[in-house]
Amino acid sequence: MIHFDFSGRAAVVTGGGKGIGLGIAQRLAGAGAAVAVWDMDPDPLRDSAAGGAFDAIFAVDVTEPAGVEQAVRDTLARLGRIDILVNNAGVAGPTAPTWEYPLAEWDRVIATDLTGVFLCCRAVASVMREQGSGRIVNIASVAGKEGNANACAYSAAKAGVIALTKSLGKELARSGIIVNCVAPAMVQTDLLQEMTSAYIAGVTAKIPMGRLGTVRENADMVAWLCSEACSFSTGAVFDVSGGRATY
Ligand SMILES: NC(=O)c1ccc[n+]([C@@H]2O[C@H](COP(=O)([O-])OP(=O)(O)OC[C@H]3O[C@@H](n4cnc5c(N)ncnc54)[C@H](O)[C@@H]3O)[C@@H](O)[C@H]2O)c1
Repeated sequence: MIHFDFSGRAAVVTGGGKGIGLGIAQRLAGAGAAVAVWDMDPDPLRDSAAGGAFDAIFAVDVTEPAGVEQAVRDTLARLGRIDILVNNAGVAGPTAPTWEYPLAEWDRVIATDLTGVFLCCRAVASVMREQGSGRIVNIASVAGKEGNANACAYSAAKAGVIALTKSLGKELARSGIIVNCVAPAMVQTDLLQEMTSAYIAGVTAKIPMGRLGTVRENADMVAWLCSEACSFSTGAVFDVSGGRATY
């Protein structure tokens, strides 16, 4: 395993209660970061042995602007600073063609996967600008590059995350704050429970390496993006897709 040293640095991981976010939070904490997990369903992590690795676990719904602002204040009160923000919280939404896609589901997916990332970036960027340094990593998806059939809201939200990353990266390029995003292909997590098995099989078949990605592979990419080794990349997209992304 590549060794990173995040001692003295404070990280926020949204949606860190399970899945990829938990793996990222564990990777950062294991390398010495003080980690605050923000999750709308924090109790399973709080009640588990894994929760002991983190300095704070806050109940936060990233779609709620006031809640996000409060979480920033709570995190600063507990950790003193925020050096790393990983915007990972997300939902998949139903599997359906666009003409049958329910508006309420569209709104839920966009609110969580795109507006939530915007709200957290907006709130934490102010803190990082005052500090004069920071790393923001947004978890997009290869769906945002390629556009998955029967996942219009998810694909559109993730394409939005990619564009938001590019905008914010340019805005902060001379501030000491680096902003990048990761585009994973499919990873075996609870997120897949919202998808049909036919959809999962179809998306998996498009991965040239012929397998799903792992939480560990994504956490390693995020750790590198949060490290000093990543110093001349901002507003960029880093694929963890087994060769699936075509650009
Ligand atoms: N699993 C995959 O195949 C895959 C592929 C590409 C991208 N991603 C992205 O990776 C990220 C993590 O996915 P995962 O597979 O680990 O999902 P998961 O369902 O295992 O975990 C998602 C976590 O986000 C939290 N969450 C959901 N909505 C929230 C909200 N409004 N506020 C705060 N927390 C919220 C959940 O409580 C949960 O702990 C998502 O952004 C997802 O789109 C996943």
